[in-house]
Amino acid sequence: MNRLTTLLTIASLVLLISCKKEQENKETAQTPTRSVSSKPFGTMPDGKAVTLYTLRNTQGMEVGVINYGGIIVSMTAPDRNGKYEDVVLGFDSLSQYLKGNPAYFGALIGRFGNRIAKGKFSIDKVQYTLPVNNGENHLHGGKGFDKVFWDIEVQPDSSSLKLTYQSADGEQGYPGNLKVEVVYTLTDQNELKIDYKAATDKATVVNLTQHTYFNLSANMNQDILQHQLQINADEFLPVDKGLIPTGELRKVATTPFDFTTLTAVGSRINQDEDQLKKGVGYDHCWILRGYDGKTNRKIAELYDSTSGRLMEVSTTEPGVQFYSGNFLDGTLTGKGGVVYKHRTGLCLETQHYPDSPNQSAFPSVLLSPGQTYETSTTYKFATR
Ligand code: GLA
Repeated sequence: MNRLTTLLTIASLVLLISCKKEQENKETAQTPTRSVSSKPFGTMPDGKAVTLYTLRNTQGMEVGVINYGGIIVSMTAPDRNGKYEDVVLGFDSLSQYLKGNPAYFGALIGRFGNRIAKGKFSIDKVQYTLPVNNGENHLHGGKGFDKVFWDIEVQPDSSSLKLTYQSADGEQGYPGNLKVEVVYTLTDQNELKIDYKAATDKATVVNLTQHTYFNLSANMNQDILQHQLQINADEFLPVDKGLIPTGELRKVATTPFDFTTLTAVGSRINQDEDQLKKGVGYDHCWILRGYDGKTNRKIAELYDSTSGRLMEVSTTEPGVQFYSGNFLDGTLTGKGGVVYKHRTGLCLETQHYPDSPNQSAFPSVLLSPGQTYETSTTYKFATR
């Protein structure tokens, strides 16, 4: 009897151990490890090799970044069935990006995101003149950071890429040698965190941002008008016909700019309203609640009910430019040969207000020697 008990005990122990092993094997097979892979993505005209780095987290989310323009060329997010699909607009090859990326797909923007009226501003009574590339105004830094080669370093924990660029004194008309560092971090909570830093040796202006176009349905044949958007902002900046803020801070209440509650992007976009006409849709800066210069607080939510994908945006910045892809008109053919039609994607560009260097009532964009420019923005993906 005793012997039988011993045998039975041994047998059940063996069974237990083998079950546990099987379970462990399953778990390792199911939980992907975090990784960064890299592969060639073409060559710059000066012969520099461009590499595509792909960050992957343990959930299976991926973000692809290239050295040219620090461009995010792909970003996957899960739908409500757990299916990861690419939710950003872009091109398949470097040659398409090099041909000009007039829409700024996925690019890092600097030195100054958005517009500076007539390409002119002054610091300490010295006037600086920048190239004019958007009607009579300067947009997105001229031949800006979206068109330069960034050095990329994979960080030891395999979840971040550090991009660096040195912008020479006088580049595109801006004063000061500017050292720029941008870190893209993909967390295991399906967040892409972007940390920007800059330092100068002469007083200058800086306003860095990211120009990714999102379409959470992952179906790029479908526009974003059914997406629902919420922005934590009670005011926005009305603009003139060149999209330069007039200086007025206008309440969003009772206007088509009220996104204080989740509202379909397309529900009012074609209304006969002066500001919508000037922007040819939404192309304005919203003044975000709770700005203190350092807190990375939630400022917006974007939801696509068909896929269930939800994106939450948080930032330390005072404003967000919500651009509804109004200039996409079917002339650009993107990834997989898909023609990007009107409003196929939208951007939520966190930033300081447009034309800040010329509008002293706006939060300052001045950076002096000895100071560090530091901002942070997070795009977090979930489902609902
Ligand atoms: C920004 C601008 C838009 C447009 C796009 C690029 O979002 O505010 O007016 O220039 O970039 O097409």
